[in-house]
This record gives sequence, C-alpha cells and structure tokens, in this order.
Amino acid sequence: MSAQFSENFFWGGAIAANQVEGAWDIDGKGASMPDVVTNGAHGVPRRVEPSLDPSYLYPSHDAIDFYHRYEEDVELFAEMGFKMLRTSVNWTRIFPTGEEAEPNEAGFAFYDRLFDCLLAHGIQPLITLSHYELPYALVEKYNGWCDRRVIELFERFCRVLFDRYHDRVKWWLTFNEVNCDLLYTGAFNSTNNLRGFSGPLDTLVDSPQERIQAMHHQFVASARVTRYAHEHYPDLKIGCMIVALPDYPYTPNPDDVLATQRQMRMINWLCPDVQIRGYYPSYAKRLFRELGVEVRMEPGDAEELRAGTVDFYSCSYYMTFCVSTDPNAPITEGSLLGGVKNPYLEVSDWGWQIDPKGLRYMLNEVWDRYQVPIMVVENGLGAYDEKDPADGCIHDDYRISYFREHVRQMGEAIDDGVDLIAYLPWGCIDLVSLSTGEMAKRYGFIYVNKFDDGTGDLSRERKDSFYWYQRCIASNGRGLG
Ligand code: BG6
Repeated sequence: MSAQFSENFFWGGAIAANQVEGAWDIDGKGASMPDVVTNGAHGVPRRVEPSLDPSYLYPSHDAIDFYHRYEEDVELFAEMGFKMLRTSVNWTRIFPTGEEAEPNEAGFAFYDRLFDCLLAHGIQPLITLSHYELPYALVEKYNGWCDRRVIELFERFCRVLFDRYHDRVKWWLTFNEVNCDLLYTGAFNSTNNLRGFSGPLDTLVDSPQERIQAMHHQFVASARVTRYAHEHYPDLKIGCMIVALPDYPYTPNPDDVLATQRQMRMINWLCPDVQIRGYYPSYAKRLFRELGVEVRMEPGDAEELRAGTVDFYSCSYYMTFCVSTDPNAPITEGSLLGGVKNPYLEVSDWGWQIDPKGLRYMLNEVWDRYQVPIMVVENGLGAYDEKDPADGCIHDDYRISYFREHVRQMGEAIDDGVDLIAYLPWGCIDLVSLSTGEMAKRYGFIYVNKFDDGTGDLSRERKDSFYWYQRCIASNGRGLG
C-alpha cells in the first residue's frame, strides 16, 4: 500500500488575529497596522487611513468578532475533527504601542481563555508571532521594521509569550510570509515605507532598499527569538513561514529556464535558506546587486542567524506562476503578482491559478532541499458563496473539489517521501480578506453572516464543505469522495 498521512497528522485550519478577532480597541488593545486600513474590493485597492475617518469602513475593527465568539467557533472546529488551529497573537493586545514597560494583562487573559478552550477540545494551537500585526505606533515612530530598534521590541513581545504559554503552546511560527519583503505586493504586508502614508495602497512608492533591509531585521529577530525558545524551553518547535509561489518556465527556451531559476531563488528559496540553514545563500549577492539593494548588517548578525535556525518549514500555498522572457506572452489577469498565463490551469474568481499538482511539486522541492518536517499552514479557495434559495444552504462543490485535489496531491507527496506533518486550510471560517478587505471573498467551511457593507448578524452556518472536511479528517485523508 502507498505511504499516506500518519496517524498523528495535524489536520486543522488557519486564521489570523487581525482577520477574525475584531474588538480592535477592547481591553486595552492598541491599533495595529491592519486597523488603519480600509476595505477595498476586487480591483479596488484598500487605503491606509490612519485618521480613522468614519466615512471609511475598517474591516479589522469588528471582523467576525471571534474575540467574543471563539467558544462557538472552536466547538465547530472540534466538530470537524481539527487537531490543530493556527492563529496569531496580536502584538497590540499585549503591548498596545509596542513600547510599554509591562504587558497588558487583559490582552493575555483573552489568549489564556482561547488556548485553554482549544486544548480542552483536543486542538493544538500553532501560533504565528507576527501576522502583519505590527503596532501602528511603531510604524509612526520607527517606520516599522525599517528600523533595527524594532527587533528588541519584538523580542520582548515574544519572550513574554514563550514564558507564559510554553506549557500550552508547543508550536510557533515567527513571521508570516516573510518572503513578501522580496516582492512588492502593493499591500501593507510588505514591510515598506508606511510612516506618514495615507491613501490607496497602489499609490505607495516601493523602496526595495527599505523593504529588504526590513526583511534582514526580521531574519535577525526571528533567529533571536528562536534561540531564546530553544534555550529556555527545549520542547518548543519553531518554524519559518513562506508564501510558496512555485514557478514553471513558460517554454523550454533556456532563457525562460534561467529566469525561472532566478525567480525561484529570489521568491521561494532565499528566506528559508537563511532561516533553515542559518546564512545568506551565495546567490543573494547578485540578486541584491541587481535590485540595487545593499543590506546593512551589524557585526554579530551572521552569528545570530546561525544560532537561531528553525525546526521546520511551513508555507501558504495558493497558486503557481509561469515565467517568460517574452514581453508578448499572455499575462494572467488579476493574479496576485501578474505572471504569464498557464494554459493548463483554471483560475479562481480572483484570478489565482489553481494548481493542486503544483503543491506536490513544491513539497518535493522543499523536502529535497531542507530535509526538515513541513507544514502547509494555508491553502484554500476564495470564492463567492451564494445560499441556495431552495434550502438556504451553501452547496460549495467547487470548494470541495479544490480541497479534494489538494489533499490527493499531498498524499502523493507523502508517498514520494516528503515528511509532511500538517494541513491547515486558510480561513477555515469566513474572515476578512487580506488583499481586498472583503468578506465576499470567502474561504471557510463555516459561513459567517457578515457582508462587505458591515451588516450581518454574524451567525455561523456549516457549508457542504464542512461535512466533506469532517469526513476527510475522520478517514485520515482516505475518504475524499
Ligand atoms: C496569505 C495571508 O497571503 O493569504 C493571509 O497570510 C491571507 O493573511 C491569505 O488572508 C489569502 O489572501 P486573501 O487576500 O485572499 O485574504
């Protein structure tokens, strides 16, 4: 029989504090970066508006009110059979401006309740230490991660979390999609020059120098907190988190093949090379030179990177790209980062190319390169869900097919020899979209009655995919029918 998901495989789901919790200024919480970003729509950019102008809608302020409804939601996750839930701790619940002398006890109290509730349901928390929830005060004062002083503030935040939760939380991730700093996504998730900025995000001026310097600071921060965790609590497991964006050459033209190799190194390999191996790869010099970037390192940084390597690799996976050197090659409309259209793939309603086999390909590449356990901590289909007027239910067969094919390909990857230990679909409950701020871009197995204009009673409903995922988990990935 072919190798398959292990008995202790972590099936589950993934969310992030700022996209679900709401309660943005409750119990002493300060504003984090997403709290000053308005909603947008497909094709309409979100805006940074720190004045909190009441004529705009700020979706993180209420989100899906997980802060008050987490018990009901965790019960639904348990009903599906979750073994792990990935979420983040919002930095500004613990240190509202990032610089307080003492952590905010009321902020801790929420995560105490949440983690206890998860564990009582047999669900392991996997905690992202930074899912774009930088205190806005640090953006204003330091220009965020562009300034090295933010490293120490982040370390303090992580230390108090490890000290308080090491008995309850064994699995941690440092920076969500840290390689976003190598691309310019035009969103607030690249650690760009956001100090003093207001207006539509597509008018933000990119600065590769600042962006990549900020990434270096995040590498050092990640290494320092990983080392702290390992030294103080040896049973904790710390992972890196990469947005996996595999590339295929559009043609066998050697120019396309070389361009693809370059792109793979820059987007997919550079960050885990640093965080897993502990040093910048030799190809980084040329990549940075070509981008006109000079990374300023301090004495001791190289040693810190070596001393704080992570225990496992994790990634989000949504789509693949084709790379072409031909300026006339057809572009993928609406895709996250442009790229050339792959004639063999379908696209989602938001133009993301759907490629389950690309996941198998990527998992194999990652395993061959690093030989550390792998978690898929985001994957899913953002789609418009309509209630069937006949029975008022969501019959999301398209989502079921999407997951069925991705689970199948993960099974193939395991059979190929990959040490895959977790699958945590993104937005296991509908939540606020990062790129557009919409509710209409729904990922969940659980529908949330909340709409883009802020209306809705927030009630939760099971979609057809809820029952499908429940069967998938109960059969340990064998019952995909
Ligand atoms: C990942 C992020 O990039 O993609 C999530 O880590 C995000 O925060 C997810 O929500 C899906 O993207 P979007 O734009 O559809 O919400």
